[in-house]
This record gives sequence, C-alpha cells and structure tokens, in this order.
Amino acid sequence: MEYVKLSNGIEMPILGYGVYQIAPSECERCVLDAIGVGYRSIDTAQAYFNEESVGRAIRRCGVPRQELFVTTKVWITNAGEKRAAASIDDSLRKLQSDYADLLLIHQPFGDYYGTWRAMEKAYRAGKARAIGVSNFYPDRLTDLAECCEIKPMVNQVETHVFNQQTEARKTMEAYGVRIMSWGPFAEGRNDFFTNETLLAIGAKHGKSVAQTALRFLIQRGVAVIPKSTRIERMKENFDIFDFVLEETDLAAIAALDTGKSLFLDHTDPETVKFLLRIHQ
Ligand SMILES: NC(=O)c1ccc[n+]([C@@H]2O[C@H](COP(=O)([O-])OP(=O)(O)OC[C@H]3O[C@@H](n4cnc5c(N)ncnc54)[C@H](OP(=O)(O)O)[C@@H]3O)[C@@H](O)[C@H]2O)c1
Repeated sequence: MEYVKLSNGIEMPILGYGVYQIAPSECERCVLDAIGVGYRSIDTAQAYFNEESVGRAIRRCGVPRQELFVTTKVWITNAGEKRAAASIDDSLRKLQSDYADLLLIHQPFGDYYGTWRAMEKAYRAGKARAIGVSNFYPDRLTDLAECCEIKPMVNQVETHVFNQQTEARKTMEAYGVRIMSWGPFAEGRNDFFTNETLLAIGAKHGKSVAQTALRFLIQRGVAVIPKSTRIERMKENFDIFDFVLEETDLAAIAALDTGKSLFLDHTDPETVKFLLRIHQ
C-alpha cells in the first residue's frame, strides 16, 4: 500500500473502499470482503445509513482497529456545533470505535462553521485522528481555511478522468489540504468503462479500464475509494501497484478532462436547495 501524508503527519492509505449506495443488509459482508482482499481504509457517512454495518465488520474482521483507517462524514441535518458533536458521538457508537481516523463535513451547507468547531473539539479530544471536508470548492474552502483554527486536512470531491479538479487542487495545495476522490469511475457515467483511451492504455499494461483510471489518479497524488459490491472487482481495483503509467499515457488521460461535474454543480442554487432538503 502507498500512503498520503496529511498535514498533521497522519498517513492515509491512498487506496480505500467506499460504501455509498450499499444497502445496510449487504454492507457488513462487503466490508468484510474488502478487508479480506487487503483494503484497510473504509469510507462511510451518516447519510449512507450503513455505519452500523461498517462497525460490525470492523469488530468482526480480525484486523486490529489501529491497522484500519475509517472515515465518516457529518450530514447537513446534523450541522451546527451541538448537533454535530452529538452526531459524531452517535457515529462512533455505530462504528464501534472510540475514534474515527478521518471525520469530514459532507457538504458545505447549513451551519458548517458550527460543525467545524465540533470537529475541531473532537480532534482535540482524540475522537478523530484527522478532520476535513467534502465538496468544498475553492470559494468555500478558502473561506473556511482562512477563518478556522485547525485547517482541513482532506477535501473529498468528485474526481475522475473526466473531471480532474486541476484548478480546485491549486486552492487545496495552498492550504495543505490533500485531495480524496469520490466517484473515481464516475459511477460508470459517460461510458466510463468502455472509454477507448483508457481501454488502449490499459491493454498496453495488461490492465483494465478501472485499474488504469485508478492508477492515473494515484500517480497524480489523489487518494481513491472505489466502491464495488463484488469481490472480484474489489480485487481488480486493489491490484494497481504493480505497473506505472508513462508520461505519454498520463498526457493522453489528462486530455479527457472536461473540467465539469457529471453529477452536481455545488454552486447552483437549485443543487443547494436539493441537498438541504435531503433527509429532512
Ligand atoms: N463525499 C461525497 O459527496 C461522495 C459522493 C459519492 C461517493 N462518495 C464516496 O466515494 C465512493 C466511490 O464513489 P461511488 O461509489 O459514487 O462511485 P464509483 O466508485 O465511481 O463507481 C462505483 C460503480 O462502479 C462499478 N464498479 C466498481 N468497480 C468496477 C470494475 N472494476 N469494473 C466495472 N465496474 C465497476 C460498481 O458496480 P458494482 O458495485 O456492481 O461492482 C458501481 O456501479 C463511495 O462509495 C463513497 O464512499 C462520496
């Protein structure tokens, strides 16, 4: 495994396993499979409603807790210092852990300043080894990083070959924030898995489209957390450390970037209203 060093010195696995859209009934088995394959970083969230399943898998997997890297995220309905603090304790109870390795604010909406203060307190109290944000684009990231006491260590944003976040990364780098990709396969959108550039480069290295796309991201210093419910794909997605993309490969994949989201525009007021209404 390779690691990304966060600004506080914590080492985060560059490859992890995401559990968005995995039903609670299936999630425990999936996380156990993923840990069996070799994943040590697991990404969940309050809004995925499967923290309890992740917690059961953590408890049952046989790997010592300190060898795992568990991330969860505070949802908008728990925004604000008091609510966020209570929700962090609730998440830890569900995860059957005294601490999270990484706590993130899931969306930059609602009273996220209050949430950040609760996260800073959780960090100081040892309930989180690192704290960060998700979906914070340059304006909001700058605002928070300029005004808070502890700067975010990670920003988890949509990042894949069609949306490489080249500009947004400059702001992250300026504040020492490490990028983590969500949707590294764009959830298959835009004919991701049959993309000719990725197919051709993958074939040259004896690798699949998924492996080529993940390798591109990690070679660019992006931490990835691909999701799959199928153990054979978990293995495929894990097997990305035995080849190196050449400069010409990297340039060809860089040219796939459209600089646009395939999911949501976080600066669109309708998106903001949509997200604020989820789970209310
Ligand atoms: N912070 C946020 O706002 C946010 C938003 C979205 C996601 N996330 C996090 O990021 C993680 C990853 O993103 P994601 O789940 O949205 O999408 P993703 O990882 O880009 O794509 C997952 C999709 O790809 C398929 N797949 C996986 N491996 C494959 C392979 N080797 N070949 C072909 N198909 C494959 C999966 O199907 P099968 O399961 O059937 O294999 C699933 O349909 C999430 O699980 C979550 O932890 C965070």
